[in-house]
Amino acid sequence: MDSLIINGKNRLGGTLCVHGAKNSALPVLAASAAVGGECVIYNCPDLSDVRATIRILNGLGCFASFENGTAVCDSRLLCENEIPDKSMRELRSSFIFMGALLSRTGKASMCAPGGCEIGMRPVDIHLSAFEQMGITVSIENGRITCEAPDGISGAQINLSFPSVGATENIILAAVKAKGFTYIRNAAREPEIEDLADFLNSCGAKISGAGDSTIVIEGVDSLHPCEFYVMPDRIEAASFLACAAVTGSTLTVQNAVPEHLSSVISVFEQSGCIFDCSDKIIRIKAPQRLHKMKTIRTMPYPGFPTDCQAIIMSMACVANGTTIINENIFENRFSHAGELNRMGADITVSGRIAIVNGARNLYGTSVRATDLRGGMALIIAGLAAYGQTRIDSVCYVDRGYEKIERDLAAAGADIRRESNGRVKSG
Ligand code: EPZ
Repeated sequence: MDSLIINGKNRLGGTLCVHGAKNSALPVLAASAAVGGECVIYNCPDLSDVRATIRILNGLGCFASFENGTAVCDSRLLCENEIPDKSMRELRSSFIFMGALLSRTGKASMCAPGGCEIGMRPVDIHLSAFEQMGITVSIENGRITCEAPDGISGAQINLSFPSVGATENIILAAVKAKGFTYIRNAAREPEIEDLADFLNSCGAKISGAGDSTIVIEGVDSLHPCEFYVMPDRIEAASFLACAAVTGSTLTVQNAVPEHLSSVISVFEQSGCIFDCSDKIIRIKAPQRLHKMKTIRTMPYPGFPTDCQAIIMSMACVANGTTIINENIFENRFSHAGELNRMGADITVSGRIAIVNGARNLYGTSVRATDLRGGMALIIAGLAAYGQTRIDSVCYVDRGYEKIERDLAAAGADIRRESNGRVKSG
């Protein structure tokens, strides 16, 4: 198990480049299984989740590879429509393969994704939409089998919640359905637009992605394409938070400022000054952050739940009290306990966290419990006096590509240790 060792209080500087978005790359890779040709996907981040998805594609009979940020997937010889339980347990978001395999083969089977560290993660919205599209859903011994014996039919679907995964799965199931599919109250995240852009590049007819109503006209077939994954807005926000807590001036490159409007406005409340242009965000942080107004996580374009943990670390060292309301997931405050071990003063009650800005944080041994919570601990370690040791960074590696290499290049005193031995970047 790897650990990260951080000696805090270094000022950061220079430029950090944002990698491709994990939450776009994963659905786009799954979608390549529906295409039936060789797709080339550039700007894929080198993450354990991406490599797990490549393994799943190969397990389905595709020829998939990943090297130097480029994934190639030839799905012509796809011959399976079942995802092994082990793969689902390793990567619960593989449930996105359900829509892709239904579209390609008319049948798909995998175990229910089950819960994870941040919540139960049900898939009822996905399944009820599938049933509206003429897909039969059977659940036996925890295994979900979806089948469209008479083909998939377009439908009018109103989502009870703008679920990102459900919106993606419905789009995938609808691309070759008979007729039109309308998704109302669809998720509006930029990653949805990226998936639609990929599929339209493969000959699909999807309009309205990024808005709350998406229309998919079923086509007879798809063809392969070359695609460039959008920048990771959550990684960009994470880099900005590293600058915010260390009083730094930092340039974040390959980021899309428009994707971060709600996040930047919260950072500005804390006293950070921004200079944004096409794909560049420059942040100048104050010596001491101010408290922020109550933060409520919401579906896009509201404040993203994936930035909740990182903003909590900022609130820990801000002047005054910040209230955080986590509206999306029911168990996404596990990082609060670890932050309190560093001297933070956080009280959690249900979906509300009250953060009294501590004068200082102090390094100690902490443990990541989920992806974004792990990043929150790194941010806190950069702000803390003394040395912080963060264990279970495997969680962080799911969503950040060699984070210690980038932060060290920006001036942080951070290194990775594997079983007590320093690991080069
Ligand atoms: C995606 O998860 C992201 N993951 C998450 O990022 C992100 O936090 C989330 O969207 C919200 O933005 C990927 O894209 C791989 P949802 P997803 O379906 O699709 C409830 C990260 O850190 N719900 O929008 O699973 C659900 O329980 C990860 O990068 C149902 O009730 O999110 C949750 O409370 C974490 N029934 C809420 O909706 C359903 O059928 C949002 O879930 C589906 C969802």
